[in-house]
Amino acid sequence: MAAAIVTVAMTASEAAAQDPQLGVQPNLPESTVPVIGDGRSTAAKLCIGCHVIDNASNGIPAADVPSFASIADRPVQSVDALSIWLTAPHLPMPDPHLTRKEIRDLAGYIFSLRRAP
Ligand code: HEC
Repeated sequence: MAAAIVTVAMTASEAAAQDPQLGVQPNLPESTVPVIGDGRSTAAKLCIGCHVIDNASNGIPAADVPSFASIADRPVQSVDALSIWLTAPHLPMPDPHLTRKEIRDLAGYIFSLRRAP
């Protein structure tokens, strides 16, 4: 019985999250201008253990973890796409419970490393 109630509640909130009537998806980070330096500081604290976070080497990267520069260079990359990607947790990455500002700043910082046109 309790399980049935939980299932109904999840279905309702999923439906609300995808309702085109809402116009904006409620969990997206705000479209503020990213502060690149703050993003780099957060990356140096939370992401450096797995990713090469800039073009200078910060040690030996794990073989199966893309560098931030290579992530930035993906063909259809953007600050918005990175923000959306960082909004949801992704295994094997730990969920560091980033704030909206941290997400925006990290996305801006990663995108600032883009070498592709
Ligand atoms: C425990 C190791 C680990 C940590 C810590 C980590 N990542 Fe990752 N990250 C990964 C791995 C592994 C992948 C590749 C996942 C895949 O290909 O499915 C990845 C992928 C990504 C991608 C997507 C790359 C793509 O495929 O486009 C982004 C963006 C990213 N990480 C950002 C971050 C940020 C920002 C932080 C710090 C807040 C962080 N990661 C911390 C392991 C980690």
